[in-house]
Amino acid sequence: MAFSNFFVQELKSRNNIVDVVSSYVTLKKAGSNYTGLCPFHSEKTPSFTVFPKNENYYCFGCEAAGDVITFIMKMENLDYKQALEFLCNRAGMKMPDTESGSETDSEKRQRFYSMNREAAIFFVEQLRNPDNREAQNYVFRKRGLSTSTVTHFGIGYNPVGNKLYEKLHGLGYTDKELQENYLCMKGQNGKCYDYFRDRIIFPIIDNMGRVLGFGGRAIRDDVKPKYLNTSDTAVFKKGKNLYSLNFAKSSCKEFLLLCEGYMDVIGMNLAGFTNSVATLGTALTEDQARTIAKYTDTVIVCYDNDQAGYNATMRALEMFKNLSVNVKVLRLDGEAKDPDEYVKKYGKDKFENCVRNSAGKLEFVLNDLQKKYNFSVDEEKIKAISEACDFLADIDSEIEREVYIGKLAQRTGVNVDSIKHDVNNKRKYNKRKNDRKYVEAELNSHKKNRELVNKDFDNNPKVAGTEEEIISVLLNNTDLINDIKNGSLELGKEDFITEFDKRVFEAMTECEGVFEEGTLNGSFNEREFSYIMKIKMRRNSLGNNSRDILAQLINNLKEEKELSQEEDPIKHTQKILELKRKEQSDN
Ligand code: UTP
Ligand code: MN
Repeated sequence: MAFSNFFVQELKSRNNIVDVVSSYVTLKKAGSNYTGLCPFHSEKTPSFTVFPKNENYYCFGCEAAGDVITFIMKMENLDYKQALEFLCNRAGMKMPDTESGSETDSEKRQRFYSMNREAAIFFVEQLRNPDNREAQNYVFRKRGLSTSTVTHFGIGYNPVGNKLYEKLHGLGYTDKELQENYLCMKGQNGKCYDYFRDRIIFPIIDNMGRVLGFGGRAIRDDVKPKYLNTSDTAVFKKGKNLYSLNFAKSSCKEFLLLCEGYMDVIGMNLAGFTNSVATLGTALTEDQARTIAKYTDTVIVCYDNDQAGYNATMRALEMFKNLSVNVKVLRLDGEAKDPDEYVKKYGKDKFENCVRNSAGKLEFVLNDLQKKYNFSVDEEKIKAISEACDFLADIDSEIEREVYIGKLAQRTGVNVDSIKHDVNNKRKYNKRKNDRKYVEAELNSHKKNRELVNKDFDNNPKVAGTEEEIISVLLNNTDLINDIKNGSLELGKEDFITEFDKRVFEAMTECEGVFEEGTLNGSFNEREFSYIMKIKMRRNSLGNNSRDILAQLINNLKEEKELSQEEDPIKHTQKILELKRKEQSDN
């Protein structure tokens, strides 16, 4: 289904790209553009740039590029049409009529949300129903939850049988929908029955108050699995959402507690920490870590007090490594398997103490090393310190590093300067390694793009390279375009040998009035535009884009072009020698 240009233009003009992006990324003004941390890859220094004039964005780190529609597609994980719908809603516009009759994806999702809402109401009613005494016993007696906690979190119960199926079927949801949304499943006899039979239900709710899915805990110890969760559906992705973020989001700016389970979050709420969230039955994903870093300054990892919890903590620390968020690890000082049990056993005040005393990453790592190595044996101590230095070398903040180095020195009795020296060496080594990797990756991706965009480039890389240098100067100093237009610098499109560079040059010099980068948008596609931005960036940091430089480059271009057109190899060599001699005498 195609949408008219007019509609798309109208939609884009009513959804200002800076406003839309700002609701996901903190943008800072940089000249006429805006920059921020890229939402599509992990980074600490902003390379994500929004060009309001062009209504485009481009990331100089990961090369993500596009307009407000592609941005929403990526950000909200939607297809093209869904993104248009999203932006229509945002701007209070009506979607043009699409094929009538067939159900759109957005309608499907709306139905799933409503279905989940109806299910959530059913679960809550069932937990109140005196018929379900065993479930009530489990929740209120065995787990010690209060009515207000149960109400706050919308905790419910799905009894044995197919009562939920009957209710939702009665409301007009089809068997297929109910199965796709993991509320019911089909038995061998072909009849549908409830998915979460005889389980306590925790609804998972997003920031807009929509019910996305559920976690269901068995009320009997012999039932496996202990928890059953909604699998990924049209409205729920377990690796992207977090339990209780809908509540935590308004109280977690300063710090946020990240735990493993639904019950931990509830326990923490009982101890007064509404700023806690949990992953949904999987290890912390990159998406979740990024979400957390968006909401809080400091995340305190509060995982279980066992080996699995320890491993998960290490993985989580790794996930947060490249994000701008402080990370701490909660240490439970008593005998409790997880934060929930701790709160119950030792009470709110002691738990608060633990939160206040959460260790920084280094202490966590050091405690671990002290367990692994015997510090009274020299070789083992050296190994431990070396591992600790690896960890320290990864910390970018100098202050944080200083503090930690001091602590490490204290703990090991090794001189601060020696540790600093080792850490700095490791940092230098890592930097060299990373720079090399980065440059290689850059070159590769640029080369790939070049093959697709400027196909003639490799026929004559030298001349084409100079062409692009010229374009780069012009993009960075658009005043010089006039010097070309009025002939005071002699350069015409016939001087360009690659079709693509010629097109860019034409677009820049044959426009009426003052050249606007934004106009390139109309004549170049996303990949091409992104390539042009790369050309521009090449000289952007150099700063020196003067008229003299341009004149020199134009000269070079003409000479190189002439050389490249020489057929006779001997003449060719003579020319090169001549040029070389000239260069030497110039110097
Ligand atoms: P835990 O086993 O630590 O459970 O799993 P819990 O949250 O402490 O719950 P209680 O106190 O025993 O009732 C932590 C999380 O891992 C997921 C759930 O999200 C759970 O909250 N999990 C656990 C599953 O998805 N399936 C399972 O079978 C077990
Ligand atoms: Mn647990």
